Amino acid sequence: MKFGRFLTGLGVLIVVGVAGAFVYAWKPEIAPIKPPERASFDQALIEHGAKLAAVGNCTACHTNPGGKSFAGGLTIPTPFGTIHSSNITPDAETGIGTWSEAAFQRAMRDGVGRKGEHLYPAFPYDHFTNVSDDDNRALYAFLMTRQPVKATPPPNELPFPLNVRLVLAGWKMLFFRDGAYQPDASQSEEWNRGAYLVDGLGHCGACHTPRNTLGAEKASLHLAGGEAEGWSAFALDGSSPAPVVWDEEGLYTYLRQGWHPDHGVANGPMSEVTGNLGLLPDSDIRAMATYIASIVGEPSAERRAKSEQLLQEIKSGPITSAIGNDQSALGGKGAAIYQAACAACHENGRPQPFGGLDLRLSSTVHAPDAQNAINMVLYGLPAASGRTSAIMPGFADVLTNDQLNDLLGYLRQHFTDQAPWGDVVQRAADTRTGKYHVSVRPSDGIERGPSNIGAEDQ
Ligand code: HEC
Ligand code: HEC
Ligand code: HEC
Repeated sequence: MKFGRFLTGLGVLIVVGVAGAFVYAWKPEIAPIKPPERASFDQALIEHGAKLAAVGNCTACHTNPGGKSFAGGLTIPTPFGTIHSSNITPDAETGIGTWSEAAFQRAMRDGVGRKGEHLYPAFPYDHFTNVSDDDNRALYAFLMTRQPVKATPPPNELPFPLNVRLVLAGWKMLFFRDGAYQPDASQSEEWNRGAYLVDGLGHCGACHTPRNTLGAEKASLHLAGGEAEGWSAFALDGSSPAPVVWDEEGLYTYLRQGWHPDHGVANGPMSEVTGNLGLLPDSDIRAMATYIASIVGEPSAERRAKSEQLLQEIKSGPITSAIGNDQSALGGKGAAIYQAACAACHENGRPQPFGGLDLRLSSTVHAPDAQNAINMVLYGLPAASGRTSAIMPGFADVLTNDQLNDLLGYLRQHFTDQAPWGDVVQRAADTRTGKYHVSVRPSDGIERGPSNIGAEDQ
């Protein structure tokens, strides 16, 4: 982000913040309550709340790796500074134990804490505002029956004036539209269900929609591609980089099982998303696929033809058949690395998800920037502990940034019709020094794949 633009943005925010302070005013405190007894909540409601919490990924953002669930304190890096998530266990002192259901409903709908303070939109209430009162009631029942944990998150590290919560009133005035989901009568019930989940609790746009200088999602570029945790979250609209066009069936399979034969495995933060969606019934996954497919839209005749031709070519075998020792025919340093380090997994015909994808199908290799390809080659896919997962070794200790540049240059030229990426060496160097805070995760959701994956493929 250009620093000048950021400063101008801040100036605007301060002015609007002051105006917003009048319009939005400071919200009143909601009186504390005595933490409710577990028995006061219906078991079925608690169980429903557990599923909703998975879709909303509450656990991941409110739990420090290795720490107690929902006790908060996770460090969330933003372009503006560092924010820590709150303790949302029912501890009376440090958590939300004294929050009434009304206070919880207000936090989800309006992004306001129990005492009336505005909350940072790192808590995705710009999406959670859509959530129905009933679903919030279930979430509340679930959270209030978790183990209370005494823990106070470290203070946020934000520059003035962003450390003043009143400024958020201005941000909200500019960018935040509160209100429960309003169904679109011109669409099917399934589509509306999908929109409710995708744009609400699922907060897919928090990663997949680009943001402006003040960190708000650009409404006009809904799901047009964003970023998260050092990864590019690919476009899910007509500008999707996927070589095989995403359709409803493809999206359903990918979201249901965390991979698709023509698209590969969900990587980085997306693996957590597909893992979480595992608790949802098929009908909800189907609804999300219906909605996203309508955002992808009908491809042009040319795009569809290309996609179908590619699938035909894939059926007839890998693009370079010989995984031999003869480098001379391919030429180039990148080709040599690919043949030695990658082809054995990515061209051996072993099916997804345990075999490497034929890279002609890879969104990662076709994407507008090299970030995910760099992340994959440096860090690979670590093995999940105690469950089946797709595994790829990381090459961070094996390849220099120049070698990575040669390799990715070759992948781009050999497997795509896209222009070369220009900035691989610098991006790789910045990735290694932690500039983008890349999260490295095992794949997730794969254990829900079809039961016909033979034992020999595990
Ligand atoms: C992307 C990360 C993220 C996700 C996902 C997330 N939260 Fe949070 N949440 C935060 C952060 C960060 C804060 C602190 C905001 C602040 O300090 O202003 C927060 C604050 C809250 C608060 C206010 C607590 C307080 O003491 O002020 C509640 C309640 C809450 N979250 C509930 C939830 C629930 C329920 C879910 C799942 C449906 C959820 N959050 C998902 C990041 C997240
Ligand atoms: C925490 C950030 C995050 C959230 C939330 C998120 N995604 Fe993703 N998503 C990503 C990233 C990063 C990728 C690229 C992963 C990869 O390289 O495999 C991705 C990839 C995808 C892909 C594959 C795109 C392609 O062409 O390969 C689909 C489809 C998708 N996401 C759908 C969704 C849906 C639907 C939701 C909401 C339920 C969602 N995502 C929520 C980060 C996120
Ligand atoms: C031990 C086997 C193995 C090796 C060696 C290996 N990979 Fe992978 N790779 C996988 C598996 C398994 C996946 C996950 C399935 C998938 O999405 O392709 C994967 C995923 C990928 C992806 C993401 C594809 C997508 O769009 O989802 C890329 C890119 C990739 N590998 C590139 C490479 C490169 C480049 C090398 C060599 C430096 C390499 N791999 C070496 C097994 C391997």
